[in-house]
Amino acid sequence: MSLVYRLLNRPSRLFGAAAIFTFLLIGTAAHAQVDEAEYGAGEKLFKANCGSCHKPDKDMTGPAVAGAKERWDGKGDVHAWIKDSQGYIKSGNAHAKQLFEDHNKIVMPPQPLTDAEIDQVLYYADNFATVNAKKAPAKEAPAAGTAEPAVTWPWWLVIGALFWIVLFSLGGVRKQLANAVREKQGLPPEKDLNTWGRIRRWASRNKGWASVVVLLFVVWMTVLLWNWMFNIGVYGGEKNAHYKPSQPIAFDHSLHAGKDNLAINCQYCHSGASKSRHAGIPSANVCMNCHQAISEGPKTGTEEIAKIYAAVGWDPGTMKYSGEQKPIKWNKVHNLPDHVYFNHSQHVAVAKLECQQCHGPVDTEMDQVQQWSPLTMRWCLDCHNTTEVKVAGSDNGYYQEVHRRLTETPMGRRELKKYLEDEKITVRELGGFECAKCHY
Ligand code: HEC
Ligand code: HEC
Ligand code: HEC
Ligand code: HEC
Ligand code: HEC
Ligand code: HEC
Repeated sequence: MSLVYRLLNRPSRLFGAAAIFTFLLIGTAAHAQVDEAEYGAGEKLFKANCGSCHKPDKDMTGPAVAGAKERWDGKGDVHAWIKDSQGYIKSGNAHAKQLFEDHNKIVMPPQPLTDAEIDQVLYYADNFATVNAKKAPAKEAPAAGTAEPAVTWPWWLVIGALFWIVLFSLGGVRKQLANAVREKQGLPPEKDLNTWGRIRRWASRNKGWASVVVLLFVVWMTVLLWNWMFNIGVYGGEKNAHYKPSQPIAFDHSLHAGKDNLAINCQYCHSGASKSRHAGIPSANVCMNCHQAISEGPKTGTEEIAKIYAAVGWDPGTMKYSGEQKPIKWNKVHNLPDHVYFNHSQHVAVAKLECQQCHGPVDTEMDQVQQWSPLTMRWCLDCHNTTEVKVAGSDNGYYQEVHRRLTETPMGRRELKKYLEDEKITVRELGGFECAKCHY
């Protein structure tokens, strides 16, 4: 009773309580609609297993998955279809057979999921539209490919400004106090000096503080100078950074490789990366694995995909190859000079680096590929100097040999001691600074 009385007595409290109550209400209502754990688990499974052919709410290589359970109701078991669609067709299910016929007999491969996992995936697909309708406005903000780094205020500038404001206002207060004292003593008020004069007077009265300020100033200038010199090296060499030649087909990496889109693995197309020196550019036949069925894209309609058909000589009308081919001439984005040797498999398979460490956010931000890293000698060396190599306990034969040498031979042990001074073995210590490793 007294609580209600107190609330009514203070309109602001009443308002606050009402606001909190409303938020709680909205919060629980939103939770009640979609089971987040089930949805999240389904989303992961979908992206890992289905995303290269399906979208939850739109037709792609395979049909939109949303509503699948309903469509199969009474006609067969959607679980059996997903686990092994071809097997289910062979078992004689008419609906399965019809689906296969309706989709140009493209085979949906067997999916290694349990019934419970399939239910999670279907739950995700069914609720995808609802969840994303809520999120939509926030998602549109950053335009792909054009993202500029956000402007961040250096914290020291802000602190510096505050420092000066406080100092000046304190200075004003101090002066008024001092003049009040002088007035009492019957002295004239302090002379009004200009800024420089005041600084000099302050310095001569406070020699200790003045030297601290001078010292800080010197340190600050040194840091600035150091940064400036460092940046010459980095940016001066970045001659080709962000080089972005135009391409004969507007192939969009963020669409094909992006996690929120088709999420195709980089090495599905660049299969050389873990096996050989060159990552390789896929032939148009690789594109046809999917584009035989997909002739239209969200941004460019049929125009760009038609160029793939022209390249391989495919007539989408008759669904036949004409035999007339004209290979696509992609323009090279990366170009190391001829005297440098770079090997992808060494970095991808042996060192287990992510493509993005060298090529940048290809999958999230590049609708057109650009050179992301400077590709200067300094860039290679910087990474070799700082990247630790875990030779101990590695399953890689080469590392095992290096480890054996370092721990089991006297010379190796001496070497190891030297490395372990900075407690890590980097690429540099394994020979990543030797001229001949990178130059012919
Ligand atoms: C390699 C491509 C591919 C992958 C991967 C794939 N599917 Fe399919 N899916 C298809 C195709 C194509 C069809 C259309 C039927 C056909 O041609 O066999 C289809 C059909 C379906 C159908 C029937 C749709 C309907 O309207 O009844 C469901 C459901 C389905 N897929 C779910 C999944 C799920 C869930 C996954 C992941 C666990 C998955 N698919 C992975 C290609 C694929
Ligand atoms: C569906 C096939 C496909 C997938 C998947 C794919 N790429 Fe590509 N990539 C291409 C094609 C085609 C080109 C040549 C056209 C171009 O430069 O846009 C290319 C070009 C590139 C280039 C520039 C090559 C040069 O000329 O120097 C880089 C770097 C690259 N891809 C990295 C990646 C990375 C990293 C991923 C994974 C995040 C990836 N690609 C996924 C097809 C693909
Ligand atoms: C694993 C399947 C797959 C492969 C491989 C693939 N694509 Fe695609 N591509 C798609 C899908 C799916 C779409 C349409 C996406 C949509 O509608 O949201 C698409 C869309 C496109 C578009 C239209 C883009 C737009 O925004 O309008 C172009 C152009 C394209 N792909 C070119 C290529 C080229 C070139 C290759 C080969 C280097 C290739 N694709 C390989 C699945 C694939
Ligand atoms: C250690 C850095 C590094 C990593 C990691 C890396 N690349 Fe590269 N990549 C390069 C350099 C450097 C070049 C230029 C090579 C040249 O011009 O000879 C290049 C060139 C390419 C090219 C075009 C020329 C070619 O070799 O066919 C493609 C495509 C490519 N990379 C894709 C990938 C993919 C996909 C991955 C991940 C699987 C990857 N790269 C990982 C540094 C890297
Ligand atoms: C992002 C980090 C990174 C960048 C950038 C990088 N590398 Fe490496 N590199 C590594 C790692 C890690 C290894 C260790 C792999 C191993 O032990 O074989 C390595 C190993 C090597 C090796 C073998 C060294 C040896 O001892 O056998 C060569 C050669 C090499 N890199 C060349 C290059 C060249 C050329 C460039 C620049 C165009 C480059 N790397 C850029 C990380 C990098
Ligand atoms: C990890 C790989 C790597 C190692 C080790 C390496 N270089 Fe280089 N070097 C490069 C790359 C990459 C370039 C190309 C730079 C460019 O085009 O801007 C280059 C370029 C050069 C150039 C041409 C000048 C220039 O800037 O284009 C000279 C000279 C050179 N290196 C000498 C050496 C010498 C001497 C050593 C041994 C002390 C050495 N390099 C070790 C990767 C390496």
